[in-house]
Amino acid sequence: MSDSYLRLRNIVKSYDGISNAVDDINIDIAKGEFITFLGPSGSGKTTTLMMIAGFEDPTRGTIDLDGKDLTVQKPYQRNIGMVFQNYALFPHMTVAKNVAFPLRMRGAPRADIGRRVAEALELVGLSRFSERHPRELSGGQQQRVALARGLVFRPDVLLLDEPLGALDKNLREQMQVELKRIHREVGITMVYVTHDQTEAMTMSDRVAVFNQGRLEQVAPPLEVYGRPLTRFVGEFIGDSNFLQGRIEAGANGKLAIDGIGPVCAASELGAGAPAGPVHVLIRPERLRLIGKEPRPDLVATVQMRVEGTVNYGDSLLVMGQSGQIPLRVRIAGMESGDVREGRTISVGWCADDMHLIPGS
Ligand SMILES: Nc1ncnc2c1ncn2[C@@H]1O[C@H](COP(=O)(O)OP(=O)(O)OP(=O)(O)O)[C@@H](O)[C@H]1O
Ligand SMILES: [Mg+2]
Repeated sequence: MSDSYLRLRNIVKSYDGISNAVDDINIDIAKGEFITFLGPSGSGKTTTLMMIAGFEDPTRGTIDLDGKDLTVQKPYQRNIGMVFQNYALFPHMTVAKNVAFPLRMRGAPRADIGRRVAEALELVGLSRFSERHPRELSGGQQQRVALARGLVFRPDVLLLDEPLGALDKNLREQMQVELKRIHREVGITMVYVTHDQTEAMTMSDRVAVFNQGRLEQVAPPLEVYGRPLTRFVGEFIGDSNFLQGRIEAGANGKLAIDGIGPVCAASELGAGAPAGPVHVLIRPERLRLIGKEPRPDLVATVQMRVEGTVNYGDSLLVMGQSGQIPLRVRIAGMESGDVREGRTISVGWCADDMHLIPGS
């Protein structure tokens, strides 16, 4: 992205001087963007946030915000807010005092504090609770107080580290909507960390996928899902079938899939399909259940023995084997008719149901 506001350049963090918890991260975040860091446990998401906030120093690399180098600034010198998973509210302070805290730290004029705290509490829908203590609030309400505290000093960037992790599903979904509303209303740049893929997919302008301290891909959710750059990203996000294949060299080279055979000319796969070994990704919802009518649009058809099904109501996930190849197929509930364990079904796919990733 060209309009870079928060910029991380070659950021490395080693806690022990031996291994890198964060290993050469480069990212450009636009002003007002909602970007989500997604990745397995231990992949360096929190460490990266802590460096942006200034609670950890990078071993190497630079961080700048709006053209100014932040790398050696203390946390309180950066105009960056942070919200943690475990709220981290002061238990002995009222809601209003908790929210006022960052303003007092920054020496805001007393007259401003009351007004700004009231505004922040209004924004998160907690005006009525200002004199309560955190223990007198529900989990979701406590999280809103943390959010108000993170926003009250009008930070340039708000960092959120699994802020909804402790909430149950309903409350979580409610807070997701709330957070997006606040993002729209305040227009602030948000960097969000979550384990939850659905959350990442539904809330973000872009998703940054971490793996072992490195960034595997930074792209809008649908691109990360539909066109993953690496096999790791394809497997980590969403449900997947990965087949192994090879594209023959030459103008009329075919794509052949191990255990299935030639499926189509490389020219049908769009520009840039490289010769050599490829991972062939087919999402379960892109595999089609085939009936009796001929389907000339398909490039491959296989027989699949059904070993198990999971009924989601609106769709049916069918798991099974085609020869040696395990397959997962997701079909619409109304098509699922006589698909059940022990049966053999025909499934097929079109050229554009496949996404190819070079490599073996
Ligand atoms: N204070 C620390 N001292 C030493 N090692 C640390 C410290 N904090 C994190 N690490 C290590 O750095 C690596 C990255 O940790 P980090 O907390 O950034 O991961 P994460 O992606 O946030 O994981 P999770 O999803 O579990 O929160 C891990 O291997 C972790 O053990
Ligand atoms: Mg973490």
